[in-house]
Amino acid sequence: MTDRPAFLKLKIKNRSVLASGILGVTISSLRKVHSRGAAIVTTKSIGPEKRKGHPAPVVYDWGGGIINAVGLSNPGIDGFVSRWKQALIDFPVIVSIFGKTVKDFMIIAEKLEPLNYDFLELNISCPNVSDEFGTPFSFSDKLTQDITRRAKTVTSRPVIVKLSPGIPDMVRIAVASQESGADAVCIANTAGPGMVIDTNTAVPVLANKTGGISGPAVLPLTVKNIFAAYKELSIPIIGTGGISGTNGALQVLMAGASLYGIGSAVYSEGLGIFKEIGKGVLAFARENGFESTQELIGLAHKTTKLRYYRIPGFVKSHAQGTRYKKFQVVPVKEILDFDKGGIRTLFFESGGFSRPEPGQFFMLWVPGSDQKPFSVSFFDEKEIGFSLMKRGKFSEAVFGLTEGEPVGLLGPLGNGFDLERFNSYLLAGGGIGTAPLIYTAARLAKAGKKAHFIAGGKSRSSLEWIPPLVDKLKIGSDIELLYCTEDGSFGEPGVVTEHFQKVIKKACPEYALVCGPEIFIKNSIAIFKKGRLQGQASIERMMKCGIGICGSCCVDGTGDRVCVEGPVFQFDYIDRLTEFGNYKRDESGSVQRLD
Ligand SMILES: Cc1cc2nc3c(=O)[nH]c(=O)nc-3n(C[C@H](O)[C@H](O)[C@H](O)COP(=O)(O)O)c2cc1C
Ligand code: FES
Repeated sequence: MTDRPAFLKLKIKNRSVLASGILGVTISSLRKVHSRGAAIVTTKSIGPEKRKGHPAPVVYDWGGGIINAVGLSNPGIDGFVSRWKQALIDFPVIVSIFGKTVKDFMIIAEKLEPLNYDFLELNISCPNVSDEFGTPFSFSDKLTQDITRRAKTVTSRPVIVKLSPGIPDMVRIAVASQESGADAVCIANTAGPGMVIDTNTAVPVLANKTGGISGPAVLPLTVKNIFAAYKELSIPIIGTGGISGTNGALQVLMAGASLYGIGSAVYSEGLGIFKEIGKGVLAFARENGFESTQELIGLAHKTTKLRYYRIPGFVKSHAQGTRYKKFQVVPVKEILDFDKGGIRTLFFESGGFSRPEPGQFFMLWVPGSDQKPFSVSFFDEKEIGFSLMKRGKFSEAVFGLTEGEPVGLLGPLGNGFDLERFNSYLLAGGGIGTAPLIYTAARLAKAGKKAHFIAGGKSRSSLEWIPPLVDKLKIGSDIELLYCTEDGSFGEPGVVTEHFQKVIKKACPEYALVCGPEIFIKNSIAIFKKGRLQGQASIERMMKCGIGICGSCCVDGTGDRVCVEGPVFQFDYIDRLTEFGNYKRDESGSVQRLD
């Protein structure tokens, strides 16, 4: 059996679609998801203007799925067009758009017209911006028709209308879309809005309080909606909502969808999910004597005589996802303040957490405020610690905390440094960025390895928070510690990079580990590579979710997620990141040049 699916005349490699809002912030990440098996990828929804979205936490895994209130962060149509027109788009892509008014959709669709893309998706159904935007357009057949008709007048691309799953007359709206010229519908967006309350603090977890519900919990709703709409529609359906394995994808196809969309499962199952389901669906069709996967579409409507379909051995028989990251709310055990209250280390009981690898991070949530990533600076059998500097609104909330107050911790997340392969290391840290290297030094010492640890800063106040942690971790003399300050007020005078050559000559380290500001990392790598010293650095990017779903931390050049594939990367890899040392993305996904 050879399967050659097509969607609205475009030949595609399988029936999977990356759903909008999942890693679709950058072109590199879209290309990567396509290369990992998605037949068609969808961009994050683009609106008329740049939007930062809602404050964090924006994504929460509540056990039955995900609740999110990312809040349609995007660089705005002009920012999107300026990046997209320069890029090579060598994969099938749906551009998703949203607007506050009916006219917005027309304006955006018109601006997209000269660009290279395949399908236009009208996101008229986002449930987590209703405070600002009012009831989603998809609740009204008149508004749905109006938007669809107008978009059709300005675009040459097939139009997909993305519907809401939770309204009683969903089928009527689907039919209204078809009547006004839609070429396909996507069933559906997230359900809700819903709410999750943290019972340790009685505070809603999402900063926006409410958010859209997705993941395994919504699969039955998706299947029911598709089953009902399929009977009334002649246009194809993209079935999205709760698919986390082959079983879910098969249900959606059997209910009547031509393609299956995958969103939350990118988090719960990883990027391998596209190939896994593609293989599973094909094997199911083959084992049961179908000539192509086309024959699976609407199969549940065609059953006149009962027949037993065999499920291929490697396919899970249930539809539930596998990964679940536990978010724990714990009281602050101890606080150490330095630099007149400008640098703070928070300690918590470590008992409930698995041992982090040095370099890994946690998302810290101050209930009712925000959530941000922090590397572990301290860990032993009793305590876990995070060190941070007062800068920005979130750190003010952290600096307002007193001992005993609750903080949410999600982790350990991401990857850690390679401490196995070598026997002698050079650790180089700049300012508060030194934090993860303190715990790294402790682990190296425990493993009986040698290390030279150079920590640099502007003056005494930027480094004096480190020695108490070094003492508390009982880092012994196998680790040679050198402090240096630009004004000579603490340790040796000078900047860290000036000391590299001396240490390399004297100690011949086999591997370097670097943390600190981006420019510091860039300069350090250049020096180390000249001295033929390889190593790894921990890099920082905007992180909204920390669990690999929102795409805010994806890096250009590879499309990888700093929160999952990083934050620790090898020097050679960092050289391939076209953005490193040049620009970063802000909350809206807009590019910000580095000075
Ligand atoms: C973090 C996150 C962000 C999302 N952002 C968007 C978006 O920008 N536009 C959109 O149309 N749908 C968005 N969605 C909805 C998804 O595209 C999808 O319709 C929904 O999550 C159901 O699929 P799933 O259960 O496979 O996740 C988002 C979903 C999540 C979880
Ligand atoms: S994907 Fe959301 S922060 Fe990395």
